[in-house]
Amino acid sequence: MSLSVVSVVGARPNFMKLAPVARALAARGARHAIVHTGQHYDPEMSEAFFRDLRLPRADHALEVGSGSHARQTAAIMERFEPLCETLAPDVVLVYGDVNSTVAAALVAAKLGVTVGHVEAGLRSRDRTMPEELNRLVTDHLADLLFAPSPDAVENLRGEGVAGPHVHFVGNVMIDSLVEALPAARALEAPRRHGVEKGRYTVVTLHRPANVDDPATLCELLGALAHVGKDGPMLFPVHPRTRARIQTLGASAAAMNGVRILEPLPYLEMLGLVSDAGLVITDSGGLQEETSWLGVPCVTVRPNTERPITCVVGTNRLVAPRRDAIRDAAREAVAQRPATPPLIERWDGHTGERIAAVLCDGARFD
Ligand code: UD1
Repeated sequence: MSLSVVSVVGARPNFMKLAPVARALAARGARHAIVHTGQHYDPEMSEAFFRDLRLPRADHALEVGSGSHARQTAAIMERFEPLCETLAPDVVLVYGDVNSTVAAALVAAKLGVTVGHVEAGLRSRDRTMPEELNRLVTDHLADLLFAPSPDAVENLRGEGVAGPHVHFVGNVMIDSLVEALPAARALEAPRRHGVEKGRYTVVTLHRPANVDDPATLCELLGALAHVGKDGPMLFPVHPRTRARIQTLGASAAAMNGVRILEPLPYLEMLGLVSDAGLVITDSGGLQEETSWLGVPCVTVRPNTERPITCVVGTNRLVAPRRDAIRDAAREAVAQRPATPPLIERWDGHTGERIAAVLCDGARFD
């Protein structure tokens, strides 16, 4: 009997991590069911990604929707537990650091099912971030830990999570990027948005620490308007951020040079990011994508769970202050590398390594 795997995903950044694993498992003839928790449900936050990533429809939808952390996590657990018992897989795979990740890991671990964590070992050491708590708990429940970088392996070792079940497989999200880049570029997103390649900024902001406090959000919008004077700025807005901007009463008109857009599908976003002069963000994934692409990135956060993007990549951290962001933006653009940095095992083959561990018992130290 071939290996039976269940992948549980729910939020936007999970989907690009799932796609390469799904393809690699299919190539090896493993049985693989996809469970979508419904944490993200707007078409542009979910369906558009399944389409762009050529993912099949999820086999099971838990449809939990939004809610407080406890409510959402509990709803996923309640609905996933009976499904997991029925499916009785050999392995449950969870991805990244969202509420769906920790909820599914907890259910599977308590049912005695092997848990594999894709993107294990990242640490910001900032426990005010919900994602950090999700990472810590998930890694300590997981039986197989798939680390994207050597610092992640070190973090696990430091917490006593070491040994043959930790695999340095590389960054699975980069597999999706490598695969999708030609199609993304073919869309000619900059031309369709009326901006010139290399001369515009892409912005994303959605972290609670940045958008939930009106004073911080106001300062950030001011900073964007300021940097926006240097060139056009495209800002696809997460539903959470849109609601906060509306509450503030800040109008797009007040943010000269900043174009507010709906959340963008994967290929269009990748097309825009790959030709951007600068990215300003608080996303985890964009720090990695810009590093691989060699696009300067300014991350509005006091810390990052992805330090390799600052040490080897093109990322720099900045406080949520107008002058700091403007200075960091100018410096980042001036110091753009001539060629994209090379990061070990961010090579488009991570999904295959994960499948090799699962199906053949391979090791990646
Ligand atoms: C979640 C992840 C975060 C990730 C982000 C990517 C957690 C703790 N956070 O944050 O790590 O970077 O996804 O987007 O899991 N909403 C909609 N439509 C949707 C989804 C959400 O309108 O399809 C709105 C709802 O008002 C919801 C809010 O956004 O309450 C927040 O959604 P939620 O999934 O709780 O967290 P994110 O901020 O998206």
